[in-house]
Amino acid sequence: MSAIDSLNAIREDALNELAKRSTLDELEQLRASLLGKSGSLTAILRTMGKMAPEERAAVGAEANRVKQALEAAIAERREVLKQAEMQARFDAERIDVTAPGTDKLPTGRIHPMTQTYREIRDALVGMGFQIYGGPEIELDDNNFTLLNLPKDHPARDMQDTFYINENVVLRTHTSPCEIRALKNIKPPFRLIMPGRVFRVDEVDASHSPVFMQIEGFIVDKGLTLGDLKGTLDTFIHAVFGEDVKTRLRPSYFPFTEPSAEMDMSCTICGGKGCRVCKGTGWIEILGCGVTNPHELENCGFDPKEWTALAFGIGVDRVASLKHAISDIRLEYENDARFLKQF
Ligand code: DAH
Repeated sequence: MSAIDSLNAIREDALNELAKRSTLDELEQLRASLLGKSGSLTAILRTMGKMAPEERAAVGAEANRVKQALEAAIAERREVLKQAEMQARFDAERIDVTAPGTDKLPTGRIHPMTQTYREIRDALVGMGFQIYGGPEIELDDNNFTLLNLPKDHPARDMQDTFYINENVVLRTHTSPCEIRALKNIKPPFRLIMPGRVFRVDEVDASHSPVFMQIEGFIVDKGLTLGDLKGTLDTFIHAVFGEDVKTRLRPSYFPFTEPSAEMDMSCTICGGKGCRVCKGTGWIEILGCGVTNPHELENCGFDPKEWTALAFGIGVDRVASLKHAISDIRLEYENDARFLKQF
């Protein structure tokens, strides 16, 4: 076969082969086998030295054409393969952003304090109470004076107070909401008034300078202590179950007369006596009473005509009892390991 024929054969063969190469690696191998140092085209070029000058010119020219044609064809094929490889990668890496996830996403949950608040609220709302409230920064008048705790009244010491100034405090309880209700709403009414309250207290297992209370306030004509006991029993049973026992124990609050504290049979030991109830079988759960006539008078009501019943509950206390939480700090620190359990 003449050199020219060989060159044509190489070209034809190479163009055929080119179409069969489907990866850039394969294409590179083919290029080396044609145009590389030991490639077939290179081999022919090497024989040119021994050729007669005319033949050499003709073969040289043809060899150049074949070389250029092959280079062009290889370059073209390389582009096609590059595109194809890129497309393959896109296809492999394609993600469907609308597909549903396979991992379980961690979900948040309702804080035990909020759960407890909602249980108390729902029980009382179910009994016809409406929700009312007042500000956390409160007038000294509303927090104390109008609640029958004038300045210098010794009972003010029962609640260590954060003073903003002489006349303004961080409310120490939700009872000032009673004053706001009396001044703003026409009785008869039944209200619960939830919110944060503040006291100067060192943080320990049973004290927090911020905690949550719910005030209950019923104003109507002809109410008795029996109405209060019935109301409290009903809602305590709704929150803690029918089995718990309750009792009213005489107490003192300046804004009620008579005043009482309600105890509940200990949920930890069932009333037999344990560390939590200090061996008594009873746990104090709220303060309550018949609103002192002075408070009604202070707000423009005739205590001979109207009677008010009031109670105040600590939500953290109820949550502790419901869930046997021994340290109040857990309820305010938001440690996920604790919160996960509810
Ligand atoms: N305000 C009282 C406190 O924080 C709790 C309380 C007691 C509220 C008796 C009342 C009540 O409405 O009648 O210690």
